[in-house]
Amino acid sequence: MKRLQIILLLLVSLQVSAETQKNLDGKELALSYCTQCHGLPPLKKYDAAGWELTIERMRGIIENMKTNKELKSPSDAEVQAINQFIASKLN
Ligand code: HEC
Repeated sequence: MKRLQIILLLLVSLQVSAETQKNLDGKELALSYCTQCHGLPPLKKYDAAGWELTIERMRGIIENMKTNKELKSPSDAEVQAINQFIASKLN
């Protein structure tokens, strides 16, 4: 009985940590958030600073459109992860 509980606990915590990691994978985040409305634009369109502004602007659009659509808006940490992913691809 006790062993089963330990195994279950382990499984749950493994799943939680896998999810946290997945959530902060900038590529996955960009794919899941940005494609809610349109395809991913070419990375070369902006430099890192330009992307930060654009993503902040997109977050505003998401918030505005949320009222009539089921939309997920990225958290601050998720926006940071997306920006880090983009910056790493620009170099
Ligand atoms: C709620 C829907 C929605 C989501 C989600 C969304 N966008 Fe947009 N996006 C738009 C709309 C609408 C436009 C065109 C109007 C405009 O540019 O204001 C646009 C235009 C753009 C453009 C072209 C205009 C420009 O400023 O260069 C880029 C680049 C862009 N989006 C990037 C992104 C990225 C990156 C994400 C993910 C973080 C994202 N978008 C998520 C709705 C969305």
